[in-house]
Amino acid sequence: MYPNHPPLSAKPSQKPDRPESTVDDPGLTTCFTAHTHTRVCAGQNGVVSMSAEPDDPRQQWVSQKHTTVSDLVREVHDLVGSHSVVVEGLVKTLTTTGLRLYGLWLSRGTRERRKEQVVVLVPGIEPLIGGTPLVRVDRLFPSPGPRIYLKMEQFNPGGSVKDRTALGMLRAEERVGGLRTGMTIVESSSGNTAIGLTMLAKERGYRVVAICDRHLPAGKRARLRALGAVTVFLPETPVGMDTVRLRIAVADDLARRSPDIVTLGQYSHPGNPQIHRETTGPEIWHELDGDVAAVVAAVGTCGTISGVGQFLRSVDPSVTVVGVEPEGSVVFGGEPGMYLVQGGGLDFVPSIFDPTVIDLGLKIPDAEAFAAVHAAARREGWMFGGTAGLVVAGLARIRSRFGPGDTLVGIVPDGGDRYIETLYEPSWLARHGFDASEPAEPLDGELMAGVRNLLCSLDGFSRSPDDEGKDMRELCERLGAAPALHGAVGGG
Ligand SMILES: Cc1ncc(COP(=O)(O)O)c(C=O)c1O
Repeated sequence: MYPNHPPLSAKPSQKPDRPESTVDDPGLTTCFTAHTHTRVCAGQNGVVSMSAEPDDPRQQWVSQKHTTVSDLVREVHDLVGSHSVVVEGLVKTLTTTGLRLYGLWLSRGTRERRKEQVVVLVPGIEPLIGGTPLVRVDRLFPSPGPRIYLKMEQFNPGGSVKDRTALGMLRAEERVGGLRTGMTIVESSSGNTAIGLTMLAKERGYRVVAICDRHLPAGKRARLRALGAVTVFLPETPVGMDTVRLRIAVADDLARRSPDIVTLGQYSHPGNPQIHRETTGPEIWHELDGDVAAVVAAVGTCGTISGVGQFLRSVDPSVTVVGVEPEGSVVFGGEPGMYLVQGGGLDFVPSIFDPTVIDLGLKIPDAEAFAAVHAAARREGWMFGGTAGLVVAGLARIRSRFGPGDTLVGIVPDGGDRYIETLYEPSWLARHGFDASEPAEPLDGELMAGVRNLLCSLDGFSRSPDDEGKDMRELCERLGAAPALHGAVGGG
């Protein structure tokens, strides 16, 4: 729902005499313009309307209810086919606001397939949360076997699935009057929730204090600083020790000190699973037209898995819901221990955890999760955080239980850019006893000779004192050539 925002207007037409809009449905509140030709408006419940220039035969193509993306594409194809307009693809669906908003790539004519740009007008950050893509990963999971899609939550504006959690809690709290402009939100976070909250707090006029672990990765630290969050770090604790309970205690203590300070408590806040029940779960279901055999999610607060599981179970009780946690986390039982995967895992069972919607809980060792992360980068070109490694490893473990006709979905909580100095740093991996990564692709034959001749004859590598120089020297040695010893290094 999006009740507090004024309707968006379309991008001004380049022709001044263009009628404002032929859309008269008051439910159609969000519009975007496909170049100069077409205006697309979307409202609640999938009502989509398009209008065009008065002299354009495509006038008023669509004014229908659509429940799925494929229905919409089919419908638009049917309607515009006679006018030789091709729908090239969909840009984005936005669903956390209750809108289903589609950007369409259109092209005129079947021979001259000229793409027209779609401009999406949105009133701020909030509507961009959700509607994340599902991406097929065939190189990680080659056939034969089930189709596997990853839901890429790093495409949320704050870069993680926790944007949804932040939004869900804020909305739920605002509904019951628990937040007023000017208040301070104190939240225990492994970084991502605090990033989401701080981002969303701007428009609403709240301040955010994040209670974090000393081992918060630099990428998250820098984001919180840049966004203007106040970050309070706990005293130093051993690497890999779970500090969530301590962080919650600090947040609770601060919140008791003033009526203007609140803690939302993501481990117990009903708004956390609720938003996944209302957005993440339905998105997976609708985008795949209900063809979902299993979903795999990492657990931290358990908001994602509980909400997604509750929704999927409500529409199809046969969907298999699988949770993954680091070995050493206790959500699925066992003894607490140390683990290096950051962002997921817990040394207690949170109150929002709903075990009734979960079929299987897997414990994944750090090494297996890290290997999965590196495989995703090397084979697919995707860089993920460690909890996505748990998810990919979980998918690898359950894959053989499903057939080629089945579709499995893994939820990727965040991207790898915020873990560069740990997960993607060979010296960090080696220090903690892990294999650095999958081997680089072998260079053979002509390619190898070409690389050797080019790189190792470039000047200056042997004298460069930094890591890059060292890497280059090692590469030349591995390739069986001595690097040049004189001259200057060219640009990079
Ligand atoms: C990187 C990352 N992965 C996974 C999770 C777990 O998600 P959830 O809290 O919804 O269980 C979190 C948050 O706790 C996270 O930040």
